[in-house]
Amino acid sequence: MDKDYQSLKIDRSEITPKSLYLSRRDFMRSAALAAGAVALAACAPGAAKSIDGSTAPTDPSNAYMDELGNPANSFQQTTNYNNYYEFTTNPQGVARLAANFPTSPWDVNVYGLVNNPKTFTVDELNQLFTPEERIYRMRCVEGWSLVIPWLGFPLSKLLEAVEPTSEATHVRFETVFAPDEMPGLKNLSYPWPYQEGLRLDEANNDLTILATGMYGGELPAQNGGGIRLVVPWKYGFKSAKALVKIELVDYQPDTLWNAIAPNEYGFYSNVNPNVDHPRWSQATERRIGDTDRRLTLMFNGYEDQVGYLYEGMDLKENY
Ligand code: MTE
Repeated sequence: MDKDYQSLKIDRSEITPKSLYLSRRDFMRSAALAAGAVALAACAPGAAKSIDGSTAPTDPSNAYMDELGNPANSFQQTTNYNNYYEFTTNPQGVARLAANFPTSPWDVNVYGLVNNPKTFTVDELNQLFTPEERIYRMRCVEGWSLVIPWLGFPLSKLLEAVEPTSEATHVRFETVFAPDEMPGLKNLSYPWPYQEGLRLDEANNDLTILATGMYGGELPAQNGGGIRLVVPWKYGFKSAKALVKIELVDYQPDTLWNAIAPNEYGFYSNVNPNVDHPRWSQATERRIGDTDRRLTLMFNGYEDQVGYLYEGMDLKENY
């Protein structure tokens, strides 16, 4: 059965550190005091600006822990090791190249097989569907991982608002194509724009969110601002950044990675330690900041929440 994010959070109460049961506001206050001075923290370079315009301390990462007891990566780590090929294929070069990329205002067009097509601004979406905190593991297909506290809302809420018609079976995601600002788009070996897709029931699972923020603040450009998809049980490349189009369709959409290397990147792309990438093992991963590798979990540890989606399917065949 489909279990929602709340079912994960119940387990978390047993391992909740002090920072999590203090109210968020109290925690931010005590974290800022511990850091020395509120003003200092707020003025530090890279401080996260919150959706309501206030400023959070630069590195509030120790406030967060996932339901398995993994501490979140620091804001510094999450914003300085990124995959974003529209800028560069070097994960440590994205932050610098994306520094001036404008993420607000941002529009996303939701259309196709729906009764109520509409172009939304991200501000509008944040008002319609109040963002909630989701602390998720992100497992890149390359074998590294992060734990990230997102702010976002279930994609299902947006889909409910636009009302998919009975013909819709899949959702196609298209991301921004801005060659003047994104130097990586000059690399014509990739079939731009970046595209991804989900089956409609995957899109409607409670764990699938559209993120508009992280670490209690705005979503930095290098992490996919103005708005990105986050699908935590799939390899990170499914979680497309900088979405501009969400289209309801009646076919399995093409995806950028599948188009380039169909035998390496399947449509499903579920995290699966038992199915190796043709060129490397997927059994283990390295959390950014760690030296040792850890075991990769089936569906990235979300099997109870999403296993029902793939009942009866051959997961080696449908990689
Ligand atoms: N989205 C776009 N538009 N372009 C990309 O190159 N890379 C993907 C995904 N989304 C990518 C993208 C990959 S491979 C990963 S692992 C995650 O973004 C990384 O997200 P992060 O940098 O926020 O950790």
